[in-house]
Amino acid sequence: MPLRERIEALAASDRSTFTDEDRAVLGELKEALNRGSVRAAERGQDGQWRVNAWVKQGILLGFRLGTLVDMSVDGTLRFFDKDTWPTRALTLEDRVRVVPGGSSIRDGCFVAPGVVCMPPSYVNVGAYVDEGTMIDSHALVGSCAQIGRRVHLSAAAQVGGVLEPIGAAPVIIEDDVMVGGGCGVYEGTLVRERSVLAAGTILTRSTPVYDLVRGEIHRSGPGRGLEIPAGAVVVPGARAATPPTGMSWALSLYTPIIVKYRDAKTDAATALEEALR
Ligand SMILES: CC(C)(COP(=O)(O)OP(=O)(O)OC[C@H]1O[C@@H](n2cnc3c(N)ncnc32)[C@H](O)[C@@H]1OP(=O)(O)O)[C@@H](O)C(=O)NCCC(=O)NCCS
Repeated sequence: MPLRERIEALAASDRSTFTDEDRAVLGELKEALNRGSVRAAERGQDGQWRVNAWVKQGILLGFRLGTLVDMSVDGTLRFFDKDTWPTRALTLEDRVRVVPGGSSIRDGCFVAPGVVCMPPSYVNVGAYVDEGTMIDSHALVGSCAQIGRRVHLSAAAQVGGVLEPIGAAPVIIEDDVMVGGGCGVYEGTLVRERSVLAAGTILTRSTPVYDLVRGEIHRSGPGRGLEIPAGAVVVPGARAATPPTGMSWALSLYTPIIVKYRDAKTDAATALEEALR
């Protein structure tokens, strides 16, 4: 039976005890995620992303199957977690730079050759991080997040996950996106290729994004998250809070604004350093 069907059958069962055979099924899923042959979401030829809901089901199953164990290192660094989700056993052959200093990459995620993880950073289960991407200090790659090639996740950039609070679609950051320092991208937001999020930009399902160039307002919709168009340069802005009370109190709401689409000046401001990879 294909892995997907075995995972779905196990996830649907209301058993509270599991066998070694069940754990082997989870092991297969984790290996496939580590290899990148199974993904939480995939981009089709038409550019549309499709979510593989069974992958998230399998990850949640891993928490049900697991037992809390002592994962302490050298008896001094104290860690306690489900035995099904240890850190990923990377080796030199993976060609990933994990710079010393306290980063963690969980088992069951794909991290491509040429990725750099600056400390401290965290890559959660189900994530997919493609070639040449930089995960800078204090950055989070949340559960099932899909990060493309040559993405720069700047210091303290937070990419949310789907496990809790419960989300259906993962956050997706396509190739060559620059995510500025302190940004937050959450709740199934899709950031299309070559976009730039200026430092401090926050995107959620509830965030409208005002596009000054195209004269549109980008919003999430039923069954789809917020989508930032390819090449957009998004900066943090503000708009007047809804009248009359907001106006009388002189309040404004945070709102991201697309000020331009990527040009030579943006390229110069966001150029990557090849020597680091
Ligand atoms: C977005 C960014 C790359 C600038 O891109 P750019 O193409 O050079 O942008 P421009 O300078 O042409 O600015 C275009 C417009 O947006 C405004 N703007 C640019 N960056 C802005 C920002 N961060 N916040 C608010 N407005 C901004 C400019 O004032 C300009 O508007 P104006 O013409 O009305 O003055 C830069 O602001 C940025 O955030 N860089 C990332 C910094 C960072 O996080 N580094 C990582 C450290 S680890």
